[in-house]
Amino acid sequence: MAKKWDKVLSWNFTEPNVKWFEGAKLNITENCLDRHVETQPDKIAIIWESNDVNVASEHITYKQLHERVCIMANVLKKHGAKKGDRICIYMPMIPQLTIAVLACARIGAIHSVVFAGFSANSLVDRITDATCNIVITSDGINRGGKQIPAKKVVDEALQNCPSVTKVLVANCCNLETQMTAGRDYWLHDEIASITDVNCPAEMMDAEDMLFILYTSGSTGKPKGVVHTCAGYMVYVAYTFANVFKCGNSDVFWCTADIGWVTGHSYIVYGPLLQGATTLMFEGVPTHPDAGRFWAVIDKHKVNQFYTAPTAIRSLMAFGDEWIKPYNLSSLKVIGSVGEPINEEAWNWYHKNIGKEKCPIVDTWWQTETGGIMITSLPGIHPQRAAHAGFPIPGIQPVLLDGAGQELQGNDVEGYLCVKFPWPSILRTTYGDHERCRQTYFSNYKDYYFTGDGARRDEHGLYRIIGRVDDVINVSGHRIGTAEVENAINESEYVIESAVVGYPHDIKGQGIYAFVICKNIDSNHDHIRTDVQETASRIIGKLARPDKIQIVSGLPKTRSGKIMRRILRKVAEGDTTNLGDTTTLLDPSVVEEIIKGAV
Ligand code: WT7
Repeated sequence: MAKKWDKVLSWNFTEPNVKWFEGAKLNITENCLDRHVETQPDKIAIIWESNDVNVASEHITYKQLHERVCIMANVLKKHGAKKGDRICIYMPMIPQLTIAVLACARIGAIHSVVFAGFSANSLVDRITDATCNIVITSDGINRGGKQIPAKKVVDEALQNCPSVTKVLVANCCNLETQMTAGRDYWLHDEIASITDVNCPAEMMDAEDMLFILYTSGSTGKPKGVVHTCAGYMVYVAYTFANVFKCGNSDVFWCTADIGWVTGHSYIVYGPLLQGATTLMFEGVPTHPDAGRFWAVIDKHKVNQFYTAPTAIRSLMAFGDEWIKPYNLSSLKVIGSVGEPINEEAWNWYHKNIGKEKCPIVDTWWQTETGGIMITSLPGIHPQRAAHAGFPIPGIQPVLLDGAGQELQGNDVEGYLCVKFPWPSILRTTYGDHERCRQTYFSNYKDYYFTGDGARRDEHGLYRIIGRVDDVINVSGHRIGTAEVENAINESEYVIESAVVGYPHDIKGQGIYAFVICKNIDSNHDHIRTDVQETASRIIGKLARPDKIQIVSGLPKTRSGKIMRRILRKVAEGDTTNLGDTTTLLDPSVVEEIIKGAV
């Protein structure tokens, strides 16, 4: 830190306006890099494990990482990047991605990482919303046995992104790649052109923006969650240290993609702030086979392993023989994040991976919270299957009833809110502060509303039940129903649609789409395929509906509002009690929908 703060906190949840560590001057990369270069230059900062088992892993020391980040920062400066610019990063899980993120932070540019599974169309929305001027990408992406042409997606997107003037392309796959002269540059050429291996860190105010990360909400348009420098830094460092108990010679592995907040906070910033060794994995859990995670744990002697329930469930389904060849004895703490973990998966994880000796940290948090909010601390708090547990010290969660009253005591269930700010609370939604207020601070006055429902058990442990808004959690990734509806309505067959979530064995929730079609005579399989492909094309693969039911009408109230409650019941396969349907315009459609359920 270059200058200490004058004031720790000022806040109100009305506007909202939250400021932490006002007056402080800092650059987060000095705490991630320079500080460790002084005390432990040769410690491994990043272990990179390739998608391909035949490609050697890379070990990058703090000293090397510092140098590579400085060089990358100088590349960005060479291309005109400066403090406050928004830079979009659309890349696979290769070291250049972490380096790009840190290089942005180094020069005070605001990074907006877009998960590389998103479509060109989604990329356009995100680049445009933040008016990014530079895109950092790669020729392609190695994913299991496939190669995905990332640069092609960027090229398609940039036809509709006039703000972008420069594209820096990492060579990841040796793909033949079209390069637009004056706009596109190979990263290795640019790096080779830099002679200065130092780049002084730009001094940032505590509340300057550090990054934007887009997330789906209940309306069609994703929102850019904004995090700022000092508070995010402090909270992520604090939670990383206390939740994972990562020792000085430990290896920490979070399997998320840096395109999601989990990767930002617990692959990049948290571990590096604490001078830990963080493992970055390019591949997928099932390549070359369903034992890959366990092979990587043994290979690199991973001590803390942090993954998602969807991965646990899918590997559980492959059978225990995939674990047998590995001893997993290095593990000390194992974690779960992204969605509720069901008891069966929790027990399997505890027994087969943690060998009944590793505490499980089931960490509840959100893109908006920046860091972990609720989890039982390993070795300190009691743990209970399917329960995230206790709030992190300093966090003040509450459960509210429908009228906005705080539920007191234990054994209660309600809307999960937080009543006091923590350092990494979102500050705004980029370019639209009113939307931030509306979404998070208007439902219950003077509370941050999470969008989740939760229970506090008889011992005070929290169990997250799930979203109470029109958001589906598919494999730990949030997707708004409205966004999927808007996308599938673009199919040439679709007149109108309604999308809901339903319980899915592996994904946690699947996407169930009810569609009214124009040309009902055409082949239904053909329509279904087109709907799925349209969703993939417009949003990305994660938005592809799992089930599609063609209907002649939707259950609407007289005021034209779709009664999603009914559709959710149908999708869940539980139509015994549909509740009050008397306000429906045409109750007969409900009968038809129940009969046609898929
Ligand atoms: C939503 C946030 C924050 C990391 C990745 C997801 C759900 C997250 C848990 C958990 C039950 C969880 C919530 C939350 N969620 N962690 N341990 N138990 N539910 O980030 O995309 O911002 O989604 O994920 O519903 O609101 P995100």
